Amino acid sequence: MASARLNALDRHLALAGFMGSGKSRLGAEVARRLDRPFVDLDREIEQRTGSTVADLFAERGESGFREIEEGVALEVLRSGKPAVVALGGGAVLSQRTRDALASAAFTMLIDVEPEIAWQRVSGSNRPLAQDEEKFHALHRDRQPVYDEVADTRARDVEGIVLAAAGVHVEPGAIDELGGLVPGEGPMELIADERVAGIHGVRAKDALGLRRVALHELPSGEAAKAHDVLVGLWDELTIGRDGGVVALGGGSTTDVAGFAAATYMRGVAWTAVPTTLVGQVDAGIGGKTAIDLPGAKNVVGAFHWPARVVCDPSLLATLPESERLNGLAEVVKTGLLAGDRLWERSEPGQVRACAAFKAAVCLADPHDRGPRAQLNLGHTFAHALEAAAGYSLPHGRAVALGLLAALRLSGLPDEERLVVEVLAPEPVAVDADRAWAALARDKKTEGARPRLVLLEAAGRPRWGVEVPEADIRRALSGLIAGRQ
Ligand SMILES: NC(=O)c1ccc[n+]([C@@H]2O[C@H](COP(=O)([O-])OP(=O)(O)OC[C@H]3O[C@@H](n4cnc5c(N)ncnc54)[C@H](O)[C@@H]3O)[C@@H](O)[C@H]2O)c1
Ligand SMILES: [Zn+2]
Repeated sequence: MASARLNALDRHLALAGFMGSGKSRLGAEVARRLDRPFVDLDREIEQRTGSTVADLFAERGESGFREIEEGVALEVLRSGKPAVVALGGGAVLSQRTRDALASAAFTMLIDVEPEIAWQRVSGSNRPLAQDEEKFHALHRDRQPVYDEVADTRARDVEGIVLAAAGVHVEPGAIDELGGLVPGEGPMELIADERVAGIHGVRAKDALGLRRVALHELPSGEAAKAHDVLVGLWDELTIGRDGGVVALGGGSTTDVAGFAAATYMRGVAWTAVPTTLVGQVDAGIGGKTAIDLPGAKNVVGAFHWPARVVCDPSLLATLPESERLNGLAEVVKTGLLAGDRLWERSEPGQVRACAAFKAAVCLADPHDRGPRAQLNLGHTFAHALEAAAGYSLPHGRAVALGLLAALRLSGLPDEERLVVEVLAPEPVAVDADRAWAALARDKKTEGARPRLVLLEAAGRPRWGVEVPEADIRRALSGLIAGRQ
């Protein structure tokens, strides 16, 4: 397989594969999730020529059709705005199309068993699906070409979106780290000290000879500090061909990712999140940051990880309170997606939430639009956390923030659901302090706070102006003795 291209950020996402692999159906749904145009190459050819593919085959023969197909493929792949492109099964037979894919696309092979593909296409008018034996022979012949052109493989919508973002979700993946971390250069491992004590040996063994040093960071949020970052800059010895592997929760991936963004003006990094928050949220999307005293996440950079490796089996050692923090983000994601993701098994939650976040971040890598939806409930949560002097766990604050956002959205059923799943308890903080923190929140434009609300589950709206009195009332409702 080709190795230089790691994700579909800023390039076309091309789906290759045999007839009947589902490229058109999957491509349309993936394009919707990534907010990109969808081009189905066969339909594009039919539109431009005014003939069906079957007629073009009949009139001009396969080589005549391939010529037209190549012309249209090159035009589509050379056009600017990144799209999702479903290629016809034989489009990759053209060397010029393969070259265009290499320079302008991240190409994904959609895997399908030949028997299933045959079931799907037999009886159709596809010219190359008229005879079962020939169909299977063609499938065998094409495999080496598909293998050559594919940057990666996937089978379903979540799998495609995850692979397009460079995210690998698999129980046990920690033991395959050596093969999953891209690049040939030396690697340095940066780990939360507590996590290093639990999972460090496995990670080091899996990285093998490529690891040149281990840097242990203070456990949790304390790692996101200026002196810790400076320490990393001093200690790192890799050159620009090297990379950083971050092992820990969101605190570790935030500071290690920022170190990678800034050291030598940017080196590649791989996130290996070990908390539920990290696997469903923080490890994905390339936002990195440290805190300043009294102000969270104010210094940072966008630096997309070369790979994110989510191994849900690492969560077995997570304290229950940290799991609850993650569950709040799972509920947030489920509300945004309009899907009861919290009812899935934990590995299922990780896969679905990681895919949701990956899609939103691919659609808006620099946080200029739809990415704002990920802040559902967070304006309130951050205000409560600040008013509590950061002693309130983020997950508890998010659970309360979701309640307020749903109240303002006028969605009592969803509010009840948050109560059932997350059991949020009002917190004892100073209401004026909380209000002052909310008004200062960085999501505030001008003087008026703008919120993320839901029209319904699955239908978020961001940048919504809400009357100050309503926001104050919703915030008060979260504070003990104020309801
Ligand atoms: N960059 C982003 O997009 C983004 C998104 C969400 C949150 N964040 C940031 O993430 C941070 C919170 O991260 P977090 O919730 O993952 O927690 P964390 O990284 O602060 O870790 C919490 C605790 O869990 C321990 N821990 C981690 N993995 C463990 C494991 N597998 N077994 C046992 N203990 C383990 C840690 O040692 C620590 O004590 C915040 O600073 C937040 O701002 C960033
Ligand atoms: Zn959060």
